[in-house]
Amino acid sequence: MLFPDYRPRRMRQNEGFRRMIRETTLLIDDLILPLFAIDGKNIKKSIPSLPGQYQLSIDNVIKTAKEARDLGIPAVILFGIPDKKDALATSAYDKNGVVQRAANEVKSKVPDIVIITDVCLCQYMDHGHCGFVDGNIIDNDASLDLLARVALSHAKAGADMVAPSDMMDGRVAEIRGVLDENDFSHIPIMSYAAKYCSAYYGPFREAAGSAPQFGDRKTYQMDPGNALEAVREAVMDVEEGADIIMVKPALAYLDIIYRIRVETDLPVAAYNVSGEYAMIKAAEKMGWIDGSAVMMETLTAIKRAGADMIITYFALAAAKSLLH
Ligand code: PBG
Ligand code: ZN
Repeated sequence: MLFPDYRPRRMRQNEGFRRMIRETTLLIDDLILPLFAIDGKNIKKSIPSLPGQYQLSIDNVIKTAKEARDLGIPAVILFGIPDKKDALATSAYDKNGVVQRAANEVKSKVPDIVIITDVCLCQYMDHGHCGFVDGNIIDNDASLDLLARVALSHAKAGADMVAPSDMMDGRVAEIRGVLDENDFSHIPIMSYAAKYCSAYYGPFREAAGSAPQFGDRKTYQMDPGNALEAVREAVMDVEEGADIIMVKPALAYLDIIYRIRVETDLPVAAYNVSGEYAMIKAAEKMGWIDGSAVMMETLTAIKRAGADMIITYFALAAAKSLLH
């Protein structure tokens, strides 16, 4: 069909036509809200590089989870910011740890929201790496057991789903095994399968105090130039028992979301990370862009690329916008 017989503009001339032929529509069901839990009471501490996001004491985590639930957001993902760090990440699997208590309390006070917990060691290790450190090497196999222990402690605390973000090889199988042995075979794993070594995590590391104290994460997170390897990572995690495959970050990796959507058949999650959020907020503050419009366009693009769900700091704002 060529012009003048075909005129694509015919179907764009009014909002009714546009709605009828729209291929991708963002839904509140697609959104997952990240929350940072800290010890204390009545704390709502701003995170300078993530305007509108806070470190929250558990009472405020519950308040925000209720707000999310009332807007129709199906899930939150919890990150813990512990008081104490050490070389063995002992606070990561403490049953009285901040994320465990947060999961437990959200479970009892907001039972109708899905609780996902981020499983990693970096916030809990004094060196800030996502695995066990031996000398200056991040020891893959020595980390597995610890990660599984963390995941189990989250499940025991009331997490509905665990999301390992460490990028150690073999951790999905290890976590699956330990959950199954402990009567948690019903708890799904959302695997950060293709997690790139990205400068877009900057604001998160400020929020969570999780920047590595030496070196970088290049020996475990993926090289930004690689796409085929992301597919291998995804396939591997499917084989190991993952229930949802995640790509992270989202925006600079829309092609990866698309590839994994095409090459695997599990649900795909995308993490619209801290730096992506911060850039939009900064440009909005400067008056350079319409922040709300860019937010909706961005989230729609991530869904169009193939994401079935999007973890985003915009979740509350996007849900409000979708209700109007
Ligand atoms: C911890 C973790 C990170 C993020 C989620 N889990 C940081 C990192 O790997 O350095 C990033 C989230 C964001 O930037 O919004 N492993
Ligand atoms: Zn980590």
